[in-house]
Amino acid sequence: MTTPNRDQVVSLLGEIQDPELHRGLNELHMVRNLSVEGSKVTVTVALTVPNSASRPYYLEVIPAKIRNAFPHTKVDVDFVVLSEDERLALSESMRKDSPSPMAGSDSKTRVIAIGSGKGGVGKSTTAVNLAASLAKGGYSVGLLDADVWGFSVPRMLGIYEKPSVLGDLIVPPEMFGVKVVSIGLFTSEENPVMWRGPMLHKALQQFLEDVHWGDPDYLLLDLPPGTGDVAMSIAQFIPGAAMITVTTPQAVAEKVAQRAAFMAEKTGLKPTGVIENMSYFTCDHGTRYELFGRGGGETLAQRLRVPLLGQIPMDPNLMEFADKGAPIVLQAPDSAVAQAYDLCAKELVNLLQPKPKAKKRISLPLGGN
Ligand SMILES: Nc1ncnc2c1ncn2[C@@H]1O[C@H](COP(=O)(O)OP(=O)(O)O)[C@@H](O)[C@H]1O
Ligand SMILES: [Mg+2]
Repeated sequence: MTTPNRDQVVSLLGEIQDPELHRGLNELHMVRNLSVEGSKVTVTVALTVPNSASRPYYLEVIPAKIRNAFPHTKVDVDFVVLSEDERLALSESMRKDSPSPMAGSDSKTRVIAIGSGKGGVGKSTTAVNLAASLAKGGYSVGLLDADVWGFSVPRMLGIYEKPSVLGDLIVPPEMFGVKVVSIGLFTSEENPVMWRGPMLHKALQQFLEDVHWGDPDYLLLDLPPGTGDVAMSIAQFIPGAAMITVTTPQAVAEKVAQRAAFMAEKTGLKPTGVIENMSYFTCDHGTRYELFGRGGGETLAQRLRVPLLGQIPMDPNLMEFADKGAPIVLQAPDSAVAQAYDLCAKELVNLLQPKPKAKKRISLPLGGN
């Protein structure tokens, strides 16, 4: 029977990443005590907060990892919690080597705002599914719900936990490989915020600068409907950020979307593509109905001189999936809607390659592999 030595255990622990901070345990200096006596290993891990989501993860992953290499070991994991000073020091060190996406030319991140003229056209549905599709494709993705008045991203992704706060750094929860921040994670749907003007500007700045996004390949922003302050603030923080406009096929909707896109362009966002949503409905017998007219997406794309990235059909299941907190691109990947979104994501990647080259997501060592 082989028993591990201390160095072997240290090296195994080094392969484990903190699920919230996305850094190696050793690199974070989170292993506070380690005892290796024959086949008995005891590991003490530091948590950022007492009820950290990392706790159940470590309880499962650390024994699995060690026993995978040394099957007869008995592994105990216990925890300590970082002091306020230690948390601050950690947030400082993470801030230092992880510039915010708006830090400028040295940032890898492509920032893409998803906008529309009016509400209810499927902006959030599009933002969530594009994000999930990009993550599925191996890209690291952040999603900022900038619809501060009508936030819906947390519910659509089934995220209800508050983000951890490390000193003054917000650590975004991650779902389906997408890091998410929304004002909805700090407040309840019944208690909307009434932010305007400078407060709103400051809040958006905080969401961009004080969130540990970790320089993802793509950061998608779900904008509120219309032509307002949010787009203007975003453009100020990230000049030249790309903008995808979502419209439905009818002419009136296209006109409203066009106004919003031109306004956004004036403020400094760069129209990059159009997605037409609710393009058609296919009944059980295979007949295709264009319930909301046709051509809106194509016309808008021509007016803005950008490509039409895709046309998303109607699917009654979409609402159900959204209410369950499950993006359709993951839950029903073979559905026509999912395939249309996957295609849009591919087109988007073709248009905006990650800078400087695709960075693959680091997969967590689940199950001790
Ligand atoms: N292609 C579609 N087929 C069926 N329902 C859709 C489709 N796109 C969006 N919806 C539904 O329409 C409603 C509005 O979508 P949402 O993404 O919240 O719009 P917005 O963010 O533009 O206000 C939601 O209930 C959503 O589930
Ligand atoms: Mg929305």
